[in-house]
Amino acid sequence: MRTCLEIRNVTKEFPGVLANDHVNLQLRDGEIHAILGENGAGKSTLMKIIYGLYQADSGSVSLYGQEMHFTSPRQAIQAGIGMVHQHFMLIPALTAAENIVLGGEPGKVHYRRKENEEMVRQLSKQYHLEIDPSVKVSDLTVGLQQRVEILKVFYRKAKVLILDEPTALLTPQEVEELIGVMERLRLQGIPIIFISHKLDEVKKVSDRVTVMRAGRTVATVETNQTTPQELANLMVGREVVLQVAKPPQEPGSVVLRVDGLVVVQGHAERVKGVTFEVRRGEIFGLAGIDGNGQFELVEAITGLLPAKSGRIVFKGRDITKTSVHRRTAAGISYIPQDRQADGLILDFQLAENFVLRDFTRPPFAKAGQLQMGAITHHAERLSESFDVRPRRIHSLAGNLSGGNQQKVILAREVSRDPELLIAAQPTRGLDVGAIQFIHDKLLDLRREGKAVLLVSLELEEIMSLSDRIGVIHDGRLMAILPGGHVTREQLGLLMTGVNPEKEG
Ligand SMILES: Nc1ncnc2c1ncn2[C@@H]1O[C@H](COP(=O)(O)OP(=O)(O)OP(=O)(O)O)[C@@H](O)[C@H]1O
Ligand SMILES: [Mg+2]
Repeated sequence: MRTCLEIRNVTKEFPGVLANDHVNLQLRDGEIHAILGENGAGKSTLMKIIYGLYQADSGSVSLYGQEMHFTSPRQAIQAGIGMVHQHFMLIPALTAAENIVLGGEPGKVHYRRKENEEMVRQLSKQYHLEIDPSVKVSDLTVGLQQRVEILKVFYRKAKVLILDEPTALLTPQEVEELIGVMERLRLQGIPIIFISHKLDEVKKVSDRVTVMRAGRTVATVETNQTTPQELANLMVGREVVLQVAKPPQEPGSVVLRVDGLVVVQGHAERVKGVTFEVRRGEIFGLAGIDGNGQFELVEAITGLLPAKSGRIVFKGRDITKTSVHRRTAAGISYIPQDRQADGLILDFQLAENFVLRDFTRPPFAKAGQLQMGAITHHAERLSESFDVRPRRIHSLAGNLSGGNQQKVILAREVSRDPELLIAAQPTRGLDVGAIQFIHDKLLDLRREGKAVLLVSLELEEIMSLSDRIGVIHDGRLMAILPGGHVTREQLGLLMTGVNPEKEG
């Protein structure tokens, strides 16, 4: 098969970081080529070089045998390269069709609604990517927004598609749909570069896999001739254990009690009378399909959303009306699901981000003065023990790779020595090694007698860590089950609102 895209010896250095180190990669016509690698291995950097966002220090990028020297994405797009970024670049107030067409044709100011919607409808048929062109992007699910992004790429006549962690923000159902889309594109002969940390997805959809480690491409293998274990080992450079060891343990007293909680957002009741408790030394997992009220529930417990009725009791005290700040100070830590919006201040240094919750208190502040020595020391210690790469505490959080941004939030929240840790999607975007590390940290907290409320869309994660599992559907807890004895099928049914015991 023809080589479509060829990367030869590409090297790219940022201050103090060799992000790409003589990288080699060949993309063949009509193949889905996965790229795997630890957080910070240099995957996104390589994609940005291909797409003209960054320029390589040395090495070459060729398209069908011709060397390219892109200095902007515009040139890459003109040459037929399309990229969907992990963080979407759509304008929420515009319709799907407007987003797809605008920005595609420089200089054209007149937007013809009818014609464009018809054109987008055709495009959507041609690529089997169903969307309604007239709907506002803000009203679309994340999965549908991603379709708009992909259609936008094809509207600009892309011949090659780059997907940088396209599944990280998707629900399991949306992931299935995206995999279907990729398979259809492959049939149409479109080569795809697919970046993901999920070995099962890579195994399922890709033809070949290239593994990157510390800026280098260490191996390219045929997918059907490798195993998840081998891939994990290649990625990390040592043996990885893909299992969680959770010793049995008796939970202690109740730390958090939620009683008949009702939460309203906009005009809709999102949480409809939820009751449960989390004890010391217990991981309580909340399973559910995205959009069933789990994240509103979490935001009510942290104080970001008001409770309409019901009570939240923390260590015996009613905190239903307490401010976020006071809940934090009382010992509640929170890992939000959207790290870029709620977790970090991207144009602050790492050192500052590490103390975001506590910079008004000793030892980080004394007599109203920030204690830079203490802050620096704290940041150095956390970067080291959570393996944040690179260890440059004065660089901006926005310059870290996605997975390392997540590690910073985790380090900050876990190191506050909380009584209760609320972790929403704590391992989203992390590589296998980092996921294992985080799981170990959650289990450490459990062993130390802390309470953990884990909210995740990933059943594997919920099932392997939780002592008890609450299943939420349409704002209600369908059931609370003991962890360790439930099956995927049981949870799956409950998550869709079917309770076999009640209806049996
Ligand atoms: N604009 C930048 N300025 C400085 N350093 C950067 C910049 N972009 C990336 N880096 C550094 O380059 C290295 C590679 O980052 P990159 O984003 O390519 O990793 P990645 O493999 O995509 O990781 P992840 O899986 O976490 O997304 C990291 O150490 C990162 O901190
Ligand atoms: Mg990346």
